[in-house]
Formats: sequence, structure tokens, C-alpha cells
Amino acid sequence: MNKQEAKERIEKLRKEINYHRYLYHVLDRQEISDAANDSLKHELAKIEERFPEFKTADSPTQRVGGRPLPGFKKIKHGSPMLSLNDVFTEEELRDWEERIKKLVTSYQLPATSLDYFAELKVDGFAISLIYENGIFKTGSTRGDGKIGEDVTENLKTIESIPLRLHDPKEFSKEKEVREIFKKFPRVREAVSKIPGIIEVRGEVYMTKKSFEAVNKEQEKKGLPVFANPRNIAAGSMRQLDPKVAASRRLDFFAYDLVTDLGQKTHEEEHLIAKLFGFKTMDLVRRCDDLGEVMKFFREVGDKREKLPFLIDGVVAQVNSGDIFERLGVVGKAPRGAVALKFPGKEATTVVEDIIVQIGRTGVLTPVAVLKPVDVGGVMVSRATLHNMDEIKRLDVRSGDTVIVQRAGDVIPDIVKVFPNLRPKGSREFRMPRIFCGQKVVRREGESAHKILYPERCKLVVHEKFYHFVSKHAFDIQGLGPKIVDRLIEEGPVKDPADLFLLKESDVAPLERFAEKSAENLIRSIQEKKEIELPRFIYALGILHVGEETAIDLAGNFGTLEKLERASFEKLNGIMNIGPVVAQSIYEWFQEPRNKELIKKLLKVGVNPKSYKPPTTSHKLKGMTFVLTGGLESMSRDEAKARIRAWGGDISETVSKKTSYVVAGSDPGSKLKHAQKLGVKVIDEKEFLQLIR
Ligand code: IVH
Repeated sequence: MNKQEAKERIEKLRKEINYHRYLYHVLDRQEISDAANDSLKHELAKIEERFPEFKTADSPTQRVGGRPLPGFKKIKHGSPMLSLNDVFTEEELRDWEERIKKLVTSYQLPATSLDYFAELKVDGFAISLIYENGIFKTGSTRGDGKIGEDVTENLKTIESIPLRLHDPKEFSKEKEVREIFKKFPRVREAVSKIPGIIEVRGEVYMTKKSFEAVNKEQEKKGLPVFANPRNIAAGSMRQLDPKVAASRRLDFFAYDLVTDLGQKTHEEEHLIAKLFGFKTMDLVRRCDDLGEVMKFFREVGDKREKLPFLIDGVVAQVNSGDIFERLGVVGKAPRGAVALKFPGKEATTVVEDIIVQIGRTGVLTPVAVLKPVDVGGVMVSRATLHNMDEIKRLDVRSGDTVIVQRAGDVIPDIVKVFPNLRPKGSREFRMPRIFCGQKVVRREGESAHKILYPERCKLVVHEKFYHFVSKHAFDIQGLGPKIVDRLIEEGPVKDPADLFLLKESDVAPLERFAEKSAENLIRSIQEKKEIELPRFIYALGILHVGEETAIDLAGNFGTLEKLERASFEKLNGIMNIGPVVAQSIYEWFQEPRNKELIKKLLKVGVNPKSYKPPTTSHKLKGMTFVLTGGLESMSRDEAKARIRAWGGDISETVSKKTSYVVAGSDPGSKLKHAQKLGVKVIDEKEFLQLIR
């Protein structure tokens, strides 16, 4: 491919990828599979890597998240980023209208012309985006409303934010676009050319699904979970390393067009944003009066639980841009808009105690024991306090009156403490220094407190059992925590292997255990003896080994015996496994009591089936590669993936067993070492031939 060909191909690919982004995020349609889309991006990235002179900031490849920033620059907002006043009832909403109607009449504008635009109040994080000549230039947080932080690099990782404005002319064939143009000539005019500058504001948020996925990962890794999607969205935006934002699958809704492109209503602003390629909400409504706004609010309330993201109400805004402007600002909120909030899934109560719970990895989580309170229809008597940092941030103590919040299925959370309602003589919470008879430690840079030898703590043993039988591990039906507790306390079960030795006569005598259910339980335990290797590995509950890592391990080693014997270097050489995880796995298999457990599991008939990852071919089977120096045509991770896809292995260190050392540009000491040992060294070109 020569330069000219590369340039043309790059342009075509970008256009195609942008088209599918627009379809997916803006029009909610999908013409090609995710895999096909990824493949297009992959090709583009490869050509750009070979011809870096054609790399541009608006290329779809620029979403991966570049280098960490040393700090955030400040950005001054062209106009202040405001907040909204809340109303909770129809009456308050009518009061608001009355106030603005008076003002509107005094402007000698016809008050009868007042109509409203209602949209969702998404529970996320406000962001302002600036485009220059159609290219995304900067994005910033609200900050104090006047000055925000430059979070451009983090925002670039969000696919629903266009890196280049979409040219609506290209899609005027689309029926939807044609209809908008017909009904809204001003919108057609506004998007007829790409403006020199445009500012769009909106909300970065996270879907409920992504939120659960992130928390599940956290949990599996033995890390503290996040309280709600908004915290992750906000937290990810404030990370200096864009890779964090990239990994969190964030999303963006545009709800405001700040620049004057001739639009006259808020409704038109939404449409213009949409046509320029921003994701806007589908659930919006232009309303002739407040009756319609209330109807919309109730409808949204009914749909709320089913929406894929969290909302905390509806925003109602005077639709006319002129009137909205004239109404001005009081304090930090515009007069022309209000947030109509759902009756709070919040309530106040008293913290009766702060206790500490331990998880299966030995992490201690402080939990507030609450005076039971109804929060949006559910009785809440506990709230997680996450860790010491969170306790310090809230400054919560036993005896405090607090606000508890319950958002969706999220664990109840304390959001605020009333310091003035604090009883005299209350004392700060301290993490116990000893827990389960052991010293409690907090490693540098970690937010969690842990005990050093979790396996020696009875509570941890119970937690590990729950994990062992859980859905993604052995998946033993009918073996909930309560029964596990009784089997350990009253029955003959000392470790998970004992489960497979249980007989009906062991279970039936347990109090309140019917004969039938004893029989069923034994059967479902016995049925699970044949188990897939990834599940088996996951069930072991090794620190940092979640489901994904278990699959990677199974795929790399194929059998349990090989995994047991794996060296640290070998583990560390696996893609997606870093030194911390490798060390944790290595140590786990070295520990005599774990060795015993595995031996016993096999002895009682548990049979982890050998596992083959879905590979394309095995032409590199049995070969071990060591990579050193940079490759031009692909990243190191990609090279590893390619080797693995052909059945080869990767190691970080050169030994006599190494089949090939692949030496890229600026190779390190590994090259010298290879030469000394007489290991074959190949360059990138030879490597490419091997993996072709
Ligand atoms: S309009 C003029 N519309 O709510 C004020 N805000 O309390 C601009 N929010 O900071 C806000 N969804 O973070 C508006 N559809 C929506 C919104 C929305 C969420 C947030 C936004 C803002 C806060 C106002």
C-alpha cells in the first residue's frame, strides 16, 4: 500500500466507522455486528500505525485513551454552567409557572405563547463540549460553574460523543431526517453548514448494566464496590489516566445547545444536536401546558425502572429560547427551567452502630446498622460505608442522623450526615486493629483494610464456601448461605471437598430439613462433580481471579495440573494477567493447604474437564515466544493475542525453552540474554510471516 492508497483507505474507513457510530448511538440502529465494526477499526488502526502522518485527533482510533495527564488544565466556560431548582409536587410546579407568567406578562410578551419542553433528568455528570470547524476540541466539567476542568482526553473515550460533527447533508435521504427538515425549517438551516464554533452540553452517565458489570468485577477482585453509576461517571472523568474512562463504558446524552445557530426553541436545540451526531434522549416531549408536563412526568415514572439508565426526575423548560433568556437566572439556576423530581428514594434515619464485615478475600467493609426506615417502599436497616476513606469523607459516626439513599438495585448508601443533630460525646469510628484474631493492615495506595491470613478466619471460610457453590462457580442449586452455615456448624463439612462426600443421612438430621430436600440437595451436589475448568478455577476464590481471568488461565493451561505447576513467569506472560495477579495465583498454588484442598477435591471425584480455548489453528502449538522492543505494525497486546490465537504461548523471560525471541525496535536485555543462550531471534518481518 502506498501513501496515496493509505490516505484514501483511511478516509473511507473513517467515514464508514462514523456512519455506524451515528446509526448506533444516534438513530438506535445497527447495520453491522459489533465484531465487524471492531474489525473496521482494527484495519484503520493498522494503517494509521504504518502511516502516522495521517493520524488525526478526530479519527475513531483516538478513543482508546492516550497517556495519563500530569494534571487537569482549567477551562473557563463561555457562559456559566448552571444547576436547576427542584420541585417535588404538582403544586410547586404550578407555583413556578405562576411566577414566570407574571414576569412574562411584564415583558409584554404574550403569556399564552408559553409552551414547555420536558425531558429526562439523567443521573450523571454535566459536561460541556466545544467543536471547532466540526472537530471536537475540548470538553470540560462544570467545576464551580464558571471554571471547569479540561477532561477532553477522558471524553474522547466515550463513543456516543462524536469526534467530528456529523454532516447532516449526508443523511438527508434518511426518512427521519427529511421529516425533521420539513417540520423544522430553522433546524435545516442551522445544520446546513458546519459551524465555526459550537458548544453542546449534556450528561455523562453510565447504564445500569455497565454499572453492575463494573461492580461485579470489583467484587470478584476483592475490591470495594461503587455506590452508584453517577459516582463512577464522575470518578472516571476525574482520572488523569484516560484508560480508566475507556474501560468504564460511559455514555453521553446531549441536552443543550449553547451556541446560537438560529434556533428559536429548546426542542430545536435537541434536534440540531441529534443531527450533528450527538446522542439525545428519545423520551422527550413538547408540552402545551403543565397538565401535559405532569402527564409526561407520570408516564416517565412508570417507565423509570425499565429504563437502561438512572434518572432522578424530569426537566421542564420554557420552550421558547427568547423567553428563557429574558427570564434570566436567580442564584445559580435559570428561572425558565425546573427539575421535577421523583419522590425521593431517600429518607433520614439514625445510625445505631457501625460494624465491620469481612469478605472472602479478607477485605473488611464497614457497614452502618440503621434504625429501620422505609426508603421508597423498601425497609432499609443497613448501608454500606465502603471503606475508611468514605467514612472520613462523610464524617459519619454511630448516633448520627443521616440521609440514606437507595437507587435502583444499588446497595443503600449514606449520602449525608447532619452534624448539628449529632449527640454529645459521639466518637469517631476506628477500624479494629485486630479482626478474627489477626492484625488488620492497610497497604499503601489501597483504600481497603484487610487481614493478613484470611483463610484462618472462620467468617472468611463461610464466605469462601458461598462463593464456591455460587452460580458462576459450582452452581449448586439449593445450597444457600443458611444451609452452608448449618452444614459447617452442625454437619461434617470442613472444606468444600467434604460437600461431595455428604450423604442424605448427614443432611436429614439437620434441624428443619425435610427428607425430600435432603435427597435433592445430595443429587444436585453430585451432579456438579463434572465441571468445566474455568468454573473450577473461579470457584477456588483466588484473590484477583474473576471469571475472565479464570477463562484466560484455563485457555492457557488447558488442564488443572498444568496450572498448578505454572511458574510466576509463565503466569505473568499471559495476556491480561499482570504481575500482581500472577503473584496472587502463584502464591495460592504454593500454599500447602490449597494443594491439599485440590488433592482432596480430585479424590472425592470432582473432575475439572480439560479446556480448549476457541483458537483458529494450532500452528504455533508448543512454541513459546518472548517479545522485546516495540513492534511497528501492532501493539504488544495484539501480538500476544495473535500468538495465542495460533496456539502459541508467551513468556516474559528468556530461557532455553523459549522458541523465539521477537526483537522489535530498541530491544532490551532480553535480546542479549537470548543470544547468550543461543535462542532463535527473529525480527518483526519474520514474526509477521509466522503469524500470518
Ligand atoms: S438542564 C440550565 N437537562 O442536572 C441548567 N440538566 O441540577 C442546565 N441534568 O447540572 C441543566 N439531565 O448535570 C438539564 N435533561 C437535563 C438534565 C440535566 C441531567 C443535570 C445536569 C445539571 C443538573 C441540574
